[in-house]
Amino acid sequence: MTNVAIIYYSSTGNLHEMALRLEKAAGSEGADVRRRHVAEIAPDAAIDSNPRWREHVDAIAEEPRATGDDMEWADVVLLGSPTRFGNVTSQLQQFLDTLGPLWAQGTLADKVYAGFTSSQTAHGGQESTLLAMYHGVAHFGGILVTPGYTDPLKFVDGNPYGVSHVSGADNDDPIGDGVLDALDHLAARTIRISRRLTVEG
Ligand SMILES: Cc1cc2nc3c(=O)[nH]c(=O)nc-3n(C[C@H](O)[C@H](O)[C@H](O)COP(=O)(O)O)c2cc1C
Repeated sequence: MTNVAIIYYSSTGNLHEMALRLEKAAGSEGADVRRRHVAEIAPDAAIDSNPRWREHVDAIAEEPRATGDDMEWADVVLLGSPTRFGNVTSQLQQFLDTLGPLWAQGTLADKVYAGFTSSQTAHGGQESTLLAMYHGVAHFGGILVTPGYTDPLKFVDGNPYGVSHVSGADNDDPIGDGVLDALDHLAARTIRISRRLTVEG
């Protein structure tokens, strides 16, 4: 059994939709899956400034939050964050910043990692967000398994660094088939590589 942790942040639901798809895809591959939203750290005043943000916070209120144990448990960690000024959200970074003790023990090493993101515009910083997300992976001693162009479907979503959705000017464009296929591919590929590592020791 391969353990897959989907660790992500979402304000208005796009990353959440992507995480749900990854959860389904990883389950279809026979993996044991923990889908975990990281804790919200924005003040209520900021959340209430955007009705969709408030709606999403309320919708996931009862869901479990990501913990260090989820990271230790996982063979595959799929990290997700929307783009914030071309960078990772403070919410996901805050979670990563709590992992110092696990890093010191070496328990974040030797796992497979990959990332997914969403932004309003195609050139608004998806690659820079994914690359920033991967800084921590290098420090963990993680095994970064990007999708590259390892399948023709990657020429449709077009992002070799991870999987990305463009949510559009009103932030409500549906996640298209090309991105859904790329999410399925990311889950299958990372699980396959992790299993190879396990089998070959
Ligand atoms: C403070 C802030 C900064 C943002 N910065 C960018 C950006 O640099 N480039 C971009 O294309 N979209 C940017 N966005 C838009 C989000 O990345 C986009 O709406 C994303 O799809 C939201 O994902 P979510 O629904 O999971 O929260 C920003 C949004 C906010 C609130």
